[in-house]
Amino acid sequence: MDKVLNSLINALQFEKKHFRKYIAVTEELEKEDTLLESDIMNCRKCSLYSTAVNKVIGSGNLSANIMLVGEAPGEEEDKRGVPFVGRAGEKLEEMLKYIGLSKNDVYICNVLKCRPPHNADPTREQEESCIVFLKRQIKLVKPKVILTLGRHAASAVLDKESKNMYEYLNKVFEIDGGIKVISTYHPAAILYSKGEAKNKIRIQVASDLVKLKGIAGEL
Ligand code: URA
Repeated sequence: MDKVLNSLINALQFEKKHFRKYIAVTEELEKEDTLLESDIMNCRKCSLYSTAVNKVIGSGNLSANIMLVGEAPGEEEDKRGVPFVGRAGEKLEEMLKYIGLSKNDVYICNVLKCRPPHNADPTREQEESCIVFLKRQIKLVKPKVILTLGRHAASAVLDKESKNMYEYLNKVFEIDGGIKVISTYHPAAILYSKGEAKNKIRIQVASDLVKLKGIAGEL
């Protein structure tokens, strides 16, 4: 009986120690997240803050293994302050569903935290002003794998500029000492392409998603 009691006490102490550690890590994560949020809210490094309705920081699971990085908030995201909640967001949800995931299973953010008026492509100056926040998000979430959506996101995350999407496709990169990065098309590319081009993009995206799931599961 004493033996059973002792092992029960040991098990409880083990749980208590690990639970405390878990709470400490969670508190640390939340503290850094709050700080990051307030730094983004106060940012005036480029002119976009003056036209943005809302800053769009990130959504989903801060402890996720998978991080998705888009380009910049669109009109709906700007209105609501949440990434990927417009038409591209619906497509993204479909993409995640294809590999059995939902938006809550991953962490989602953009390179730019403010909407460029008329959804213009991000300029170099805007990207350079904002990249520090994306780097802090990557450090905070520590994902095992990042999926970049579109050419701008790939170039920002990989710090490797190319006008050609093929430079980024079908490769597995590594950043920050071990975080894998794979790139696919932006969900808007599926929405707005037509005919044979649309088919090719869909096939590429499907294969990238399967690869993403595989990498996240293997690590
Ligand atoms: N497109 C993006 O790149 N990000 C969003 O949040 C919405 C649309």
